[in-house]
Amino acid sequence: MNKKLYALALTPIIFIACANEAKQTEVIEQPAVTSQKAIPTQEVAVVAPKTVTTPTKSQASVTFIENKKILEKGMMHIDTFMGSMQPTLKGLLAQDSTHVTAMGACSSMAQSMIAEYNQQISGVKLRRTALRYRNPKNKPDKTDRMVMDEFVAKNSFKPLVVDTGDQYRVYKPLKVKQSCLICHGAINDMSKDIVKMIDRTYPKDKATGFELGEFRGVVVADMKK
Ligand code: HEC
Repeated sequence: MNKKLYALALTPIIFIACANEAKQTEVIEQPAVTSQKAIPTQEVAVVAPKTVTTPTKSQASVTFIENKKILEKGMMHIDTFMGSMQPTLKGLLAQDSTHVTAMGACSSMAQSMIAEYNQQISGVKLRRTALRYRNPKNKPDKTDRMVMDEFVAKNSFKPLVVDTGDQYRVYKPLKVKQSCLICHGAINDMSKDIVKMIDRTYPKDKATGFELGEFRGVVVADMKK
């Protein structure tokens, strides 16, 4: 990618002031969710005591907070990163009508692009995760799962801020667009070459079969307190 453009895009980050103390506004109690499917919150609450096995798990909860400064800081990083990633993907998709080049680049570049971005910022770590993920390195943790279940249950694409105790996390939900279906759509609709590449590179892939407009996953900004 173009390093100069990238550096330019990163410049405003330096001027972001530290966020203020977060104000806790809402605590949503949820159990550890093992299923990948979204379960309505009320049902979850009823089922919770039965599924609990250890005291730590019984206290599993996500604390959503409303803090504009943290939200803005996290979103600024997420949007800057996505802004640098999308043209790369678009360009590669346009370059080769079989999209095989884009697929290859996605698997080799996605991790390094995010690592490169993270290297340049201290106190913030970006990552991508999903309930149905492709790369096992993007596997969600318990908090990620609970937050994503929330997006699915409420069919909401509004970013959320979470206080995990030792860090703040900003979650930006991603919607499946037409262009995503090339690599994340129904296997029968995808090119054989792409399916083959996915099988080879990600034998345990869970990230196909998505439909237009569906929740695909999140970009997360983990922020030091
Ligand atoms: C050219 C193929 C291709 C296209 C098009 C594509 N992706 Fe992906 N996507 C991948 C690959 C490959 C990975 C695994 C990357 C890695 O190794 O981290 C991935 C991973 C992801 C992840 C990280 C979680 C996971 O499953 O590992 C998210 C979130 C995601 N894609 C969302 C999208 C969205 C939203 C779109 C449309 C705007 C899209 N993708 C379009 C190939 C593609």
